[in-house]
Amino acid sequence: MSSDERHPRSLDVARVRADFPILERTVNGKPLVYLDSAATSHKPTAVIDAVSDFYAHHNANAHRGLYFLGEEATEAFEGARGKVARFFNAPGPETIVFTRGTTESMNLVAQGWGRKFLKAGDEVLLTEMEHHSNIVPWQMTAQVTGCVLRYIPLTDDGVLDLTDLGSLLTERTKILSVTGMSNALGTIPPLSRLVEAAHAVGAIVAIDAAQLAPHSRVDVQALDCDLLAFSGHKMLGPTASGGLYGKAEVLDAMDPMFGGGEMIYEVYPDHSTYKEIPYKFEAGTMQIAQQVGLGAAIDYLEGLGMDAVRRHEREITSYALGRLIEAGATVFGPADPGLRGGAVSFWYRDVHPHDLATILNEEGVAIRAGHHCAQLVMRRFGTPATARASFYVYNTLEEVDVLVAALARAQDIFV
Ligand code: ALA
Repeated sequence: MSSDERHPRSLDVARVRADFPILERTVNGKPLVYLDSAATSHKPTAVIDAVSDFYAHHNANAHRGLYFLGEEATEAFEGARGKVARFFNAPGPETIVFTRGTTESMNLVAQGWGRKFLKAGDEVLLTEMEHHSNIVPWQMTAQVTGCVLRYIPLTDDGVLDLTDLGSLLTERTKILSVTGMSNALGTIPPLSRLVEAAHAVGAIVAIDAAQLAPHSRVDVQALDCDLLAFSGHKMLGPTASGGLYGKAEVLDAMDPMFGGGEMIYEVYPDHSTYKEIPYKFEAGTMQIAQQVGLGAAIDYLEGLGMDAVRRHEREITSYALGRLIEAGATVFGPADPGLRGGAVSFWYRDVHPHDLATILNEEGVAIRAGHHCAQLVMRRFGTPATARASFYVYNTLEEVDVLVAALARAQDIFV
């Protein structure tokens, strides 16, 4: 049992908000109500300061300079890797590859693992609720290898329909690649059950944790996933920070996606030898300051406690679902806050989501409208777009009230 579970902590949201300078912004004289953290989160002063401090006092290239600044930059960069490994309970820092985020990580899996190990007729199992970054890279790999993409369907409630899992997950399946939390529906799939079922047929499992990692405790060893992609910018870190966790034997077996400086031991005219993991995947100058900032974001999240983060979001999501439905919105995705995270997609009466987002903006409320890079989800529910409010550590129940009050104004204008 974690100390969080023995002594459940609540977030002191007022104190949290004071750590985010951008929340002081106003729009048309109204306070900013930022409900788009699923697209990108804001950054606390600790993260902004860590990036600024790196550039002001420690900037140099990592793994290259034999002078003191080079050593400090390397120490800061590798220190961040250690923090990421600890955050995900990874067995060691060598199992964390730094990338620009989930999209790059999923492309690395589809290319570095998929193109090497998949052949014609092999199957990749995805789900209908994947973000495009967990579909398009596999389509590109399928064009090269002849592998077949299959999809676990969704129920009308927006959860995975596992009725036919036995016929979808067979000895032909080589990898199950699944989101940890849908960015379009909020759905959290039963990951442990899926990992167990995939391993039982000899398939490996990759998890797109872009939305899960910022909001829940993720223990890659307890989950026993083989690969897990994450984005720093959605978990209070800088843009272009993030990475890919992989079991050492899986990463060892994979090919690099990028070739270039610092990922090699020796280069000859016709071939090169690669460094050990994770460095064979990290060609060229890396996002050093950004990953250092991610390390600071992890310190901040751990200071709040990931169980407290999840509890807070569950409370807001539950409140938002109730208020939106009461106001006449149609909500997509599971009604049970225990089965979902804090990304809530909806249609409000007959107002197109783009019109709704424009009107809400005038009220200071920032939401996302569109297909959310999840067109399979939109097609499944027969809609071109949804409005989406998403919540994080700095959001309050009062902000949900502002959202609902702003909906009434949209109704006056459009309905
Ligand atoms: N994938 C991000 C979102 O859902 C950008 O908004």
